[in-house]
Amino acid sequence: MNPVKIGILGLGTVGGGTANVLHRNAEEIARRAGRGITVEVAADLNLDRGKEIGLSDLRITQDAFEVVSDPSIDIVIELIGGYTLAKELVLKAIENGKHVVTANKALIALHGNEIFANAQEKGVIVAFEAGIAGGIPIIKAVREGLSANQIEWIAGIINGTGNFILTEMREKGRAFDDVLQEAQDLGYAEADPTFDVEGIDAAHKLTILSSVAFGIPLQFDKTYTEGITTITPEDVEYADELGYTIKHLGITRRTEKGIEQRVHPTMIPKTRLIANVNGVMNAVLVHGDAVGPTLYYGAGAGDEPTASAVIADVVDVVRAMTSDPSNRVPHLAFQPDQLADIPVLGMDDITTAYYLRVCALDQPGVLASITKIMGESNISIEAFIQKEPETGANEVDIILLTQRVREGDMNTAIQAIEALDVTCSAVTRIRVEALS
Ligand code: NDP
Ligand code: HSE
Repeated sequence: MNPVKIGILGLGTVGGGTANVLHRNAEEIARRAGRGITVEVAADLNLDRGKEIGLSDLRITQDAFEVVSDPSIDIVIELIGGYTLAKELVLKAIENGKHVVTANKALIALHGNEIFANAQEKGVIVAFEAGIAGGIPIIKAVREGLSANQIEWIAGIINGTGNFILTEMREKGRAFDDVLQEAQDLGYAEADPTFDVEGIDAAHKLTILSSVAFGIPLQFDKTYTEGITTITPEDVEYADELGYTIKHLGITRRTEKGIEQRVHPTMIPKTRLIANVNGVMNAVLVHGDAVGPTLYYGAGAGDEPTASAVIADVVDVVRAMTSDPSNRVPHLAFQPDQLADIPVLGMDDITTAYYLRVCALDQPGVLASITKIMGESNISIEAFIQKEPETGANEVDIILLTQRVREGDMNTAIQAIEALDVTCSAVTRIRVEALS
């Protein structure tokens, strides 16, 4: 059988890794796919990229549209990134009847509904495993491996750069900017690294996980997004004293009212496996009603770990190319006409426990005023620490751990605490999840 012909768009970190792994493992991959897979052409702005990545025979063009319009190409691998050009190229490839594999979670989270509808109409596959949690086959696991289950919740460390930064800061006391620079040098970070540190990249990934888990359309605009830039060394220390670790988590959960879809720093008990996932590693916990908890772990970013997921998608596409399009695995796990209209909840309606750090004057009655407000909002306090003021200072940190409460009620309580004469700054809040 003739080999399947691939065109790669973008030969950067992931594109270079993909071309190299396809070349190095060509024989093993062909034994799995049932056909050879050859990279016919790659598009990159730098015509010397082939040489730089050790593949000097690779044909390179600067015109990506030439690749998506080349009649000899069966599968286009989009690894340029971004929303605009990538979207145009992917839609053009689909229009030309080509299957698409991409690692571009931003593109899928924002434009996936339109892209999948076009792909469906043309009978082609758009595969995106590499976009979520790097080398971990999490889409495959949720979409296929757990298809018997009603998924109850997913919680994951799904940004390698953010986890790398938090780990290096906590374990080695390194400065934020210094670690971020290293993550960029290692090829982990997004082209715009604010996507990593402000939680936007994790929100893209969580939006996709949520759709695949619950069979709802992609709704990135409804994903609550908070990054790691607000985490302070004091909070890391207090969390540790209380038996917790702070991780940046993406959480999606089915509740009676709707679906929680949120990304933010989260305190989790140190005893959980996921609390010990460090560096660029990612981990995703998926809870299904039949299977119970399952945990997936692996490199969340980097050239060859991501290439591993890209190529697994290519192999899947090759195996499915000759199958009837209506019998293929649906893009978002559920049949397109079976996507549900379950609402994604606003943050006021989510329920979680909280860590609060209140800076207050060191005088009698302060704690009573705070606990009175909590009582009036029906918020139960689980643990409490009051630090001695530093010598000469008249302000103290009061740390509270609460039981689970509706976020809207917590917001009301926080506003009331901040309005007290005795509080000296905004209350710091970190959501706490037991993940049990
Ligand atoms: P890079 O910036 O390393 O690579 C992008 C490549 O595309 C560069 O070589 C760039 O060339 C090339 N390029 C840019 N514009 C054009 C164009 N108009 N025509 C042809 N080529 C072009 O990015 P990554 O490899 O890191 O990321 C690629 C995608 O994979 C992104 O969507 C990213 O989110 C995703 N991803 C990345 C992971 C990682 O670990 N890095 C992991 C998982 C997903 P030049 O450099 O010359 O501008
Ligand atoms: N910038 C992303 C991360 C790449 O660090 O997780 C993998 O998606």
